[in-house]
Amino acid sequence: MEYSNSKPGSLLILFATVFLIISSCRADPDPLQDFCVANLQATDITVDGFPCKPTSSVVSDDFFFSGLSAPGNTNNMFGSNITQANVANFPGLNTLGLSMNRVDLVPGGINPLHSHPRATELGFILQGEVLVGFVSTANAFYSKTVKAGESFVIPRGLVHFQFNVGTGNAVVITAFDSQLPGVVLAPFTLFGSTPAIPNDVLTKTFQVDQSVINLFKSKFGN
Ligand code: GLV
Ligand code: MN
Repeated sequence: MEYSNSKPGSLLILFATVFLIISSCRADPDPLQDFCVANLQATDITVDGFPCKPTSSVVSDDFFFSGLSAPGNTNNMFGSNITQANVANFPGLNTLGLSMNRVDLVPGGINPLHSHPRATELGFILQGEVLVGFVSTANAFYSKTVKAGESFVIPRGLVHFQFNVGTGNAVVITAFDSQLPGVVLAPFTLFGSTPAIPNDVLTKTFQVDQSVINLFKSKFGN
């Protein structure tokens, strides 16, 4: 490839700008050493994350994970399964600011409305045809049907979903700029918390009567 018209000064400014944007958008802090494999057994958590295993007991398997290789069980009310590869089951991710999910959806299945308080999500459709959408803080709804090989991004903290609109199973791989993005799953957060949010709060919030709230609590409560 030829760059006959490239201007080194402008390229440097462009590179510096992109680098500044990327580094200022990172969700988790930068690591301070090559790695800090999580000691998931530690009970005295004194850092923002997990304490490191001693390097002498770090093994290759700490940096490999096969949990995303097989489809999850989609036999549930949503027709979907989210398999997570985050620091809680993949200890080599500790302090590295990254994690991944595999989303399996049967035809008509949904990864229901949810948000990630600690991460932006980047998604890739491995298989199928999926309607993906999110709502901004200005209540603007952005959505598109995406097909195998296509990608999407969900800005940090915004409510979003994936809905299989194809005729076959769909598989979505999602990546996060956090080792533990967290999930606020709307139906369970609102109607399945422990203890429960008082009915008065929910009836006033949604401007419906108790029977509607009780129905949702019976579906999503404990
Ligand atoms: C998809 O939205 C996911 O959280 O993996
Ligand atoms: Mn998500």
